[in-house]
Amino acid sequence: MRLDKWLTKTIGLTRSEAKKVIRGGRVQVSGEVIKDGSFIIDNSVHKVEFGGQVIEPVDETLYLLLNKPLGFECTLKSKHYPTVLELIDLPNLKDVRLAGRLDVDTTGALLLSTDGQWLHFVTSPKRVCPKLYEVTLFEPMSEAQQADAIDEVARGIYLDSEELPTLPAKLEFTSPTTCELTLTEGKYHQVKRMFAALGNHVTALHRSKIGDLDLSGLELGDTRFLTSDEIASFMP
Ligand code: URA
Repeated sequence: MRLDKWLTKTIGLTRSEAKKVIRGGRVQVSGEVIKDGSFIIDNSVHKVEFGGQVIEPVDETLYLLLNKPLGFECTLKSKHYPTVLELIDLPNLKDVRLAGRLDVDTTGALLLSTDGQWLHFVTSPKRVCPKLYEVTLFEPMSEAQQADAIDEVARGIYLDSEELPTLPAKLEFTSPTTCELTLTEGKYHQVKRMFAALGNHVTALHRSKIGDLDLSGLELGDTRFLTSDEIASFMP
C-alpha cells in the first residue's frame, strides 16, 4: 500500500495531511526519511515511524463467514440479482473474493476473504473440506428408496455430461423428504444434479457447515469475522 494511504489507515490522517507530513520529512521508513507518498509499504518488511513514534500496521486481511439468504447471487457484479457483497456492511470490500458459490436459491454458509492463498486452500480440490447440505426433496422417499440412495451416493453417481462419478459422499435421511448430504467436492449444481440423477428434485437447499465451521448464532443475511483458529483450520 502507498505510504500516504497507509498513514490514513493506521493513524487516521486525511490523505492531504498524510502527504503534508511526508513532504515535511516527518515520516521514516525503516530508518530512512521518505518524502514520496507513493512509496509502497510492505508490512512484513518495513517499520514506519512518524514524529519518532513507531506506528503499528493495521491488518486489513478479511476472513468472513456469511449466512447467505435466498435471492442473492454469489458474484461480485450482477445484472439480475443483488450480490452477496451487498449484504456485508464493511467499508473496503474491493478485494474480497468468494470461496466457491451457492446458487441464488440456496441459503447458508459462504466464506469470503481478501487472502487469495487462503481462498485457494478452502476451494482446492486437492484438499478435503467437507460441506454439509440440508436438502428438501419434492418426492417423498420410502425406506427402501432411501437405502438405495444412501448406497448410490456412497459409491458415487454419474452426473449428466461428467466422465467421472461423484466422490463417495454421506447421505442421511431425517424424514421421507429431508436429508443431510456431506460432500467433499463442489461440482456445478452438484446437489441438485445428484438428486436429479436419483430421480428426485431438490426444492430447498441450505449449506449448514463448511469444514468444522457452522452457522450457530448467525442469522440469514448476517456476516461475522472468523477467529484465528477458524482461519487456521483451513490451512495445511
Ligand atoms: N449444489 C447445488 O446444487 N447448489 C448449490 O448452491 C450448492 C451445491
